[in-house]
Amino acid sequence: MNNNTITFRNNPIQEDLQNVKRIIESTGFFYDFEIDVAVELVDERLNKGLESGYLFTFIEIDNEVAGYACFGLIPCTVCSYDLYWIAVDNKFRGQGLGKKLMTEIEKEIAKIGGHNIYIETSAREKYIPTQNFYISCNCTLEARFKDFYDIDDDKLVYVKKV
Ligand SMILES: CC(C)(COP(=O)(O)OP(=O)(O)OC[C@H]1O[C@@H](n2cnc3c(N)ncnc32)[C@H](O)[C@@H]1OP(=O)(O)O)[C@@H](O)C(=O)NCCC(=O)NCCS
Repeated sequence: MNNNTITFRNNPIQEDLQNVKRIIESTGFFYDFEIDVAVELVDERLNKGLESGYLFTFIEIDNEVAGYACFGLIPCTVCSYDLYWIAVDNKFRGQGLGKKLMTEIEKEIAKIGGHNIYIETSAREKYIPTQNFYISCNCTLEARFKDFYDIDDDKLVYVKKV
């Protein structure tokens, strides 16, 4: 990773419909309907622009899109943002890109007046690596909703102050 050029891009382009699908599918973490939703958010942004409410940051390695995050202002708040998606292509995972992406979106959110980033994830065992990732990014576990996704599948809400 040392000699690679890492860049960030905030404006989605048409090819990102495929990039997002590829990245999300590669993780093996999401159901088909979730993959469709992730792609729909890119489509919505391409069609409606910033009016869509969906902001994106893509991380590229030597011009290849390696990961992305999608976030947006929570309606009826002035400084709180939801992180809707964050994912790194499986072949690039565990190399520090997720953390770089997180740092970049924190900067972006701070620039537009945000103070809190809310991140939801499942408490299921499969998501322990994801929980560890948020903890290593200094996010604080703020709430737990019992049986939220299903019986014995609680929702965890992390917050990152920026
Ligand atoms: C979660 C995700 C975005 C993290 O990106 P990444 O590039 O793999 O993470 P990084 O290499 O930047 O790791 C950053 C930190 O998280 C920790 N971490 C990342 N993956 C981990 C794992 N599988 N197990 C334990 N810790 C992990 C690392 O130890 C590292 O901590 P450190 O800096 O203190 O050493 C990525 O793994 C991913 O796409 N996962 C599947 C999709 C997902 O769960 N998305 C979030 C829900 S929408």
